Amino acid sequence: MSKVTVIGAGNVGATCANAIAHMKICSELVLLDIKEGLSEGKAIDMMQTAKMYGFDTRIKGVTNDYAATRNSDVIIITSGIPRKPGMTREELIGVNAGIVNGVVGNALKYSPKAIFIIISNPMDTMTYLTLKATGLPKNRVIGMGGQLDSNRFCFYLSQALKAAPSDVEGIVIGGHGDTTMIPLISKATCKSMPVTKLLRKAVAEKVVADTMVGGATLTKLLGTSAWYAPGASCAAMVKSILLDEKKVFPCCCYLEGEYGQDDLCIGVPAVIGKRGCEKILKYDLNKEEQAAFAKSAAAVKNVNNVLYESKILTR
Ligand code: APR
Repeated sequence: MSKVTVIGAGNVGATCANAIAHMKICSELVLLDIKEGLSEGKAIDMMQTAKMYGFDTRIKGVTNDYAATRNSDVIIITSGIPRKPGMTREELIGVNAGIVNGVVGNALKYSPKAIFIIISNPMDTMTYLTLKATGLPKNRVIGMGGQLDSNRFCFYLSQALKAAPSDVEGIVIGGHGDTTMIPLISKATCKSMPVTKLLRKAVAEKVVADTMVGGATLTKLLGTSAWYAPGASCAAMVKSILLDEKKVFPCCCYLEGEYGQDDLCIGVPAVIGKRGCEKILKYDLNKEEQAAFAKSAAAVKNVNNVLYESKILTR
């Protein structure tokens, strides 16, 4: 059976691990953190729910002990510092690049075949950094952001439509940033009905705007970034990998010409299965969406350039 490692046992990492345990999709789950005792405590706490939730996954918490992560099939990177109120994801780059680089290198030594899911922000750039720094094949490095943004989009849509959340479909592509994400309102549906036919233009525009600042809205309320939806969004992707479900997730993948872009990792609809990102799907975008995607890609590349300027990566 499968093994999953979650690096960073903070809000997002622990919530993700908990969601994975509840899904009963792997036999071993390792939580690793730099903070003494944190992973161990959270792992034991979760294990003490196993009887009630009926899962048999063995959850183990470790402090910096990478040997315990040996032979993981999927490794989730949440380590880093979260966004503080008023802070952009981009401002996090310097600190989190060092952390992500270090933990990915360590984890890869023990799990050379693992698929990496990157959550640490700025996520598009951290995904790119992981891919470039490790030289891993592009299918094995995926960023989690679009799935979260899409879940937030569906939430705001369901509220505006007064519809059941599960009846709503909507996806967000582009960068995982307040100004770079692109909620595809033209493709959103409620039980097969285009939402553009169900919502007034102004309401639809508000749904899009609310989605784009969805993360910041929560950061303001909570004093730190959110964790339930990020954790659950990542767990769904892990399930698709481990069970080879081949579900479509909007997620951060390396582009080589798709959507007219290359040499960056950015949110696109992709088939997620046992080989990781198995296929990038080409959606027909209208002119406005195409322009928004090009603008978003340019913004993500701008942030990626910081990695080269600060010599974290070399060309
Ligand atoms: N190795 C292992 N763990 C580390 C390291 C490291 N080098 N550096 C930091 N950590 C751990 C911290 O000790 C902390 O427990 O990463 C964890 C991060 O957890 P939180 O501070 O609770 O942050 P969280 O809200 O989970 O966000 C994690 O996801 O959404 C993004 O912007 C967010 O980049 C942030 C990440």
